[in-house]
Amino acid sequence: MKLVVTGATGFVGQEVIRLALQNRAITSTIALARSNVSVPENGGPDADTSKLKSVVLTDWENPYPEHVIEQLKGADACVWTLAITPKKSKGLEFEAVMKVCHDYTIKGLNQIASVANKPFRFIYTSGAPAERDQTKIPPFHPDYCLMRGRVENAVLDLATRLAPAVEVAIIRSGCVEGPGHPKTEAVTRIWEHYGPTPWVHVTELAATMIEQGLHGINMNTLYANDIEEIRSSVLKTEEPVSLE
Ligand SMILES: NC(=O)c1ccc[n+]([C@@H]2O[C@H](COP(=O)([O-])OP(=O)(O)OC[C@H]3O[C@@H](n4cnc5c(N)ncnc54)[C@H](OP(=O)(O)O)[C@@H]3O)[C@@H](O)[C@H]2O)c1
Repeated sequence: MKLVVTGATGFVGQEVIRLALQNRAITSTIALARSNVSVPENGGPDADTSKLKSVVLTDWENPYPEHVIEQLKGADACVWTLAITPKKSKGLEFEAVMKVCHDYTIKGLNQIASVANKPFRFIYTSGAPAERDQTKIPPFHPDYCLMRGRVENAVLDLATRLAPAVEVAIIRSGCVEGPGHPKTEAVTRIWEHYGPTPWVHVTELAATMIEQGLHGINMNTLYANDIEEIRSSVLKTEEPVSLE
């Protein structure tokens, strides 16, 4: 399988790259980012680093240049983790945040799907607080939550229009822990504003998204409990992966 990963310099994207390089069923991993993506240092002895190709894209708004399209040809799946998180959106113009979270995602899905293999599986990392119902006012960061809900709606609409060539999974993981991102009471309390939110480990999240890309989409929206169920079967067969 040829896998495209966006947001590959980030917390979740780095873990997707790390697991992809260890997974023998993945023959090619394209890290699409605005800067060069290097091989993760904690890849482990089973990582086949020759499978990683870093492709730099500087303009995410316009049609992708031919040399980028060339690298995306024949993709089977994409794990999309590129976004500006609520924490990093502080101090930025909302329009700029929306451009990255919404416009880049929709453009990316269209661009990659246009040259991908069929079926093309698009796994979109969202957040539990995303609100699809635009008549509701979320209690915390309402503009951001509604905007992430609009991205989900747009991605699902595109999947319906492009079916069966394109399949989509929206991943609502809740709180994610991992190296440099400890499980803390403070973060738990922030997420509780949106309702009960379980924690998942970033390895579980990444393994689940890879599994959906490899073997097909289980359901169009996956929550923390689904991740728990799916990852147990994946991580059991992927011995090199260890949970901290
Ligand atoms: N972390 C969590 O606890 C958590 C929980 C639930 C859901 N999620 C969701 O998971 C996804 C990934 O989160 P994360 O924690 O991995 O975020 P992150 O560490 O901040 O990574 C974000 C990625 O997006 C890229 N990006 C941001 N702005 C960009 C721009 N203008 N142009 C091109 N690339 C840009 C970053 O690239 P640069 O390095 O070049 O900036 C980076 O690779 C997000 O959708 C987030 O909402 C995260």
